[in-house]
Amino acid sequence: MTTYRIAPSILSADFAQLGNEVRQVVAAGADMIHFDVMDNHYVPNLTIGPMVCSAIRPLVDVPIDVHLMVKPVDRIIPDFAKAGADIISFHPEASEHIDRTLQLIRDNGCKAGLVLNPATPLDYLQHVMDKLDLILIMSVNPGFGGQSFIPHALKKIEAARAMIDASGKSIMLEVDGGIKVDNIAEVARAGADTFVSGSAIFNAPDYHAVIRQMRERLDTVTPRKTE
Ligand code: DX5
Ligand code: ZN
Repeated sequence: MTTYRIAPSILSADFAQLGNEVRQVVAAGADMIHFDVMDNHYVPNLTIGPMVCSAIRPLVDVPIDVHLMVKPVDRIIPDFAKAGADIISFHPEASEHIDRTLQLIRDNGCKAGLVLNPATPLDYLQHVMDKLDLILIMSVNPGFGGQSFIPHALKKIEAARAMIDASGKSIMLEVDGGIKVDNIAEVARAGADTFVSGSAIFNAPDYHAVIRQMRERLDTVTPRKTE
């Protein structure tokens, strides 16, 4: 059986109540906290950094999944590791030396992930599969919450799933952008196992209800043949 993970993105949380928001979403069944870091350079928005990661770390016991949308990327990685990040992922366009950046994340004791934008080819994965714990497929262009899922991402998820299965390695396949109750099963059927969802969870009146509905939809997905 596939283990499905739901990773609420705190980008859509109420920042004036961030500690409570994080606690509540974990109590409602979140498997990880997705932590979006934007620098107003690599993406046209500015969010939160290692100090905020340190502040929420003691509040919850689920992994913190840091999605770096910053360029350059290397200098900030040790800071996030010290701040308690469990997984750190970055965009290949933001690193001059992708293999080295993946190794830097691992050397700092974190799981490492590579994030592919809608127009970024899967080729970037080919020579670094050994260093990947997570592949994150963007189903929106990064920078903002609340955008619509780009359907073409489904084909890319299928192809990334085939690469992971062929590698025989245990690599999480995460999808980020526009995921809601109504499309989460389709994304799982394409081969994803980890689902970032920001606005669909934090804009809902009842986090528990929306996460439960997502799990009910995931329960309808027939296990893939390779399992
Ligand atoms: C976009 C971020 C996403 C975003 C997802 O750049 O990486 O994590 O917060 O938000 P929704 O689920 O609202 O598309
Ligand atoms: Zn993200």
